[in-house]
Amino acid sequence: MSKECYYVTTPIYYVNAEPHIGHTYTTVIADVLKKYHQIKGEKTFFLTGTDEHGLKIEQAAQKTGKTPQEFCDEIAAKYKNVWQKLGIDYDNFIRTTDPKHEECVKIILQKLYDKGYIYKNKYEGLYCVGCEKYFTEDDLTDGLCPDHKIKPELLAEENYFFKLSAFQEKLLKLIESDEILILPDFRKNEVLGKLRLGLEDISISRSQLKWGIKLPFDETQVAYVWVDALINYLSGIGFNNNEKLFNEIWPADMQLLAKDILWFHCVIWPAMLLAIELPLPKSLFVHGYFTVNDQKISKTLGNVIDPVALSEEFGGDVIRYFMLREATFGLDYDFSIDAIKRRLNTDLANDLGNLLNRSVSMAGKYFDGKIVNTRRAVPLTLDEEVSLTAAAVKKDYIEFMDKLALRQALESIWKLVVRLNRYVEETAPWKLSKEGNNERLAIVMYNLIEGLRHIAVLLYPIMPQTAQNIWQQIGLNDNVKNQNLNNLTWGQLQETTVAKGDPLFKKSE
Ligand code: MSP
Repeated sequence: MSKECYYVTTPIYYVNAEPHIGHTYTTVIADVLKKYHQIKGEKTFFLTGTDEHGLKIEQAAQKTGKTPQEFCDEIAAKYKNVWQKLGIDYDNFIRTTDPKHEECVKIILQKLYDKGYIYKNKYEGLYCVGCEKYFTEDDLTDGLCPDHKIKPELLAEENYFFKLSAFQEKLLKLIESDEILILPDFRKNEVLGKLRLGLEDISISRSQLKWGIKLPFDETQVAYVWVDALINYLSGIGFNNNEKLFNEIWPADMQLLAKDILWFHCVIWPAMLLAIELPLPKSLFVHGYFTVNDQKISKTLGNVIDPVALSEEFGGDVIRYFMLREATFGLDYDFSIDAIKRRLNTDLANDLGNLLNRSVSMAGKYFDGKIVNTRRAVPLTLDEEVSLTAAAVKKDYIEFMDKLALRQALESIWKLVVRLNRYVEETAPWKLSKEGNNERLAIVMYNLIEGLRHIAVLLYPIMPQTAQNIWQQIGLNDNVKNQNLNNLTWGQLQETTVAKGDPLFKKSE
């Protein structure tokens, strides 16, 4: 039996530093996917949260003089604040210091232990605290971690190990056959290439760290932060305390992440699930990085862009639009404020804002805002063409959204925006009014408002507030989020009275 609920996740973010546009990008996409599946009439569950254990967090807390828990509480609240500003509607915000999560990690580690997948061994290696992982000499660039540009520490410990090597063949088959679908294709090949070289067992505990979850079978050690963190995808949907919910939601339909954590998600995570005999995630999408001046964004490099400041300056919806419209999902994108302004001034203020503004203004001027579907009137070729454009746009949009071609999905909506703006020029309502051709004028006004209704529904997942604003200005009083995309067809709108509001967007100099 297949489950009905669409389950989308983001990585849980480290609280050693504040949220930046990179974290925002992943979370916005997860929210867009949730909303898209909602307007397709599906049940959805969207999980995000924060990763709060480990040496890196312990050290960051120490620097501020706060206890690790106080420190985590503060940063987790900052994440929640950013998500609120960006209209992110998660169903659960999981924190790894949540006692329910801690209990879940213990249950799963015990299961792995009981099934014989965990054993004790000595370990010595070069550890990068920034990455919270061990490196080999070959992985380093001039002796430094390639991401954090710092020298890893030599750690020697007696640890517990997970028998990752036992899963090489199974994982190869599952990934090759797309049973675990890794997107885009080049990331799948990257994983397969590395997987074919062989798998080594991994250390899954730390003996000297305090800030972590104690192993259920040896309280002198704590769980490796990555094992702890990956389990959030299960604990966050009730694995150990709400079986009904868990069975409705698991397995994940879409797990989002960037290329930095590919291996953990595409190899270690499915291996853990195979070991405890749970179904595997259906797909993982590995997106690129937002960079600043072609550099990775990091606190160490001092090039962090604050999403709160951005959303205060431009508005959350504009940031959402910009991210999806500019970056090709899967590839790196170099961030620039100029690009936000360009998109705001042209696509948003000129094209969309203007279309709404002139349509509701004319409807107000010519018909006191009243719009009626006059079925009697024979539509002209031009009207038919507009309605056909709307149908084609909806079809393309669905195809693009389904394959996560998010930029192209937005481009398809803009085909309708541009077509409708041209329709205004072609039909010249002001001339029709002068000629007293009210019958034709009414049809033109109807088509504009009906077009805007289509745009609002299609745009909702990406720009929820803007879509609702359009919805209200074209006189529809319910909530655009309750619309069903499958039923969206031209001519459904019977009558409405438009209610002109403020411009959708303010241009930026
Ligand atoms: N805590 C781990 C994840 C554990 S998930 C079980 C972690 N945290 S992180 O704070 O470093 O977040 C990494 C994720 O944040 C990336 O995979 C990506 O989703 C997002 N991004 C962080 N920086 C990014 C960019 N510069 N650009 C795009 N996304 C980025 O790793």
